[in-house]
Amino acid sequence: MNKLEQAREKINKTDLEMAALWVERMAAVKEVSDYKKEHGAPVLDSNREAELLENNLKAIPDELKPYYAEFLKAVIGVSKSYQRDRSSAEKGYIRLELGDRSYDIAVRRGGLSYAKDMMNLSRKVLIVTDDGVPKQYAETVATQCAEPYIITLPQGEKTKCLKSFEELLKLMLEKRFTRGDCVVAVGGGVIGDLAGFAASAYMRGIDFYNIPTTTLSQIDSSIGGKVAVDLDGYKNTVGAFWQPRFVLVDPDVLKTLDKRQVSAGLAEAVKMSACFDKDLFELFENCDIDENLEEIIRRSLMIKKSVVERDEKESGLRKVLNFGHTIGHGIETAENGRLCHGECVALGMLPMCSKEIRPRLLRVLKKLGLPTVIEADIAAVKSAALHDKKSEKSGVSIVTVEEIGSFKIEKTDFGGLFDRLDNYLKETAI
Ligand SMILES: NC(=O)c1ccc[n+]([C@@H]2O[C@H](COP(=O)([O-])OP(=O)(O)OC[C@H]3O[C@@H](n4cnc5c(N)ncnc54)[C@H](O)[C@@H]3O)[C@@H](O)[C@H]2O)c1
Ligand SMILES: [Zn+2]
Repeated sequence: MNKLEQAREKINKTDLEMAALWVERMAAVKEVSDYKKEHGAPVLDSNREAELLENNLKAIPDELKPYYAEFLKAVIGVSKSYQRDRSSAEKGYIRLELGDRSYDIAVRRGGLSYAKDMMNLSRKVLIVTDDGVPKQYAETVATQCAEPYIITLPQGEKTKCLKSFEELLKLMLEKRFTRGDCVVAVGGGVIGDLAGFAASAYMRGIDFYNIPTTTLSQIDSSIGGKVAVDLDGYKNTVGAFWQPRFVLVDPDVLKTLDKRQVSAGLAEAVKMSACFDKDLFELFENCDIDENLEEIIRRSLMIKKSVVERDEKESGLRKVLNFGHTIGHGIETAENGRLCHGECVALGMLPMCSKEIRPRLLRVLKKLGLPTVIEADIAAVKSAALHDKKSEKSGVSIVTVEEIGSFKIEKTDFGGLFDRLDNYLKETAI
């Protein structure tokens, strides 16, 4: 055995010993978490962390001290996520794991009325909503806050702009919000994106909670941390990645949402099921959708959560969530407000799936009352799609679905994408 092999042997042996010790350590962590649960103590204990570091470093040679500190911090981090995961699972929360930006998502009927049990509202709270959202939702949250300020903006995409962003920031400044205060969105994707962006920027970032009230926001936009406003008519041009601290999904609030909005939001769930979850797609095909709304929301959140966990900043996998969106955005612009986002995504998926599954997708879209025929001017659709993606010089990433439950992401140029659209239109022309 040469020197290298000998050293590797030693590493293998110590790694095995460490693995056994780590299992023992995690068993002890579990005991601590059970104890804390019984006594209502928090998972985090920063004194304890500092104490562990100080004690253990004494036994480490100087040269290795910084590396050991890094190692121990990672071990402590893993223990904390283990404790949090156990506690989230117990509460029935869905945990989105992103290291120190991890958070829980609660799906709770009637949860709005006990929001304060799930979020820290005992401080100044800016509650952002719009005039289309029944005002009792924001008020229900406000009654649970130590110092609430409700701001109600006009409903609609136009509110997602720099002017509203400034308005929120100014209000927080005027009310002397500090870094320890927070923002709560009570509304659909427009309010969530705007309020989250204001939270990301105020004093370089304060806590943000999202209480989504539309199907689209409950299924999709409230998690994942993409926050933004539009600029000069270009969607989401100015924004950030700012994860919420907690997301409360109360399916009861959907009772006041009009049917068209409910269906438009569900188009995003159809999108996710087509790419990832055959069972969910079959649920759309075979079951009563209203009766299964909560199940649809949960399953969609699970899909989105796992995509975000694997690719927070959209460097790869997260692009799959754009299935149907490149053509969809083109249609949205060309239709100039006549169709809502989800309806355009529904249409945008049709050219991007195989001929074999298209009839199934069409049946589901019809069942939801979503449009199934592209009526917009195709030249306008193409020009808007081009404009939309103009920053992607090397072409465009497209997502296609050949079989329900799986997908492909391919790089192509606009010629390739438009050929696909033209072929689809030829195939479906009467
Ligand atoms: N951040 C992301 O990851 C992400 C993902 C997808 C979409 N989005 C964004 O989401 C936005 C669209 O969101 P949306 O579809 O929720 O639209 P929206 O926020 O405009 O809400 C739709 C309408 O429903 C009303 N409303 C909301 N909740 C209600 C309720 N419970 N009862 C009655 N009326 C209610 C609103 O007043 C509004 O008029 C777009 O700006 C889009 O860019 C963001
Ligand atoms: Zn969308």
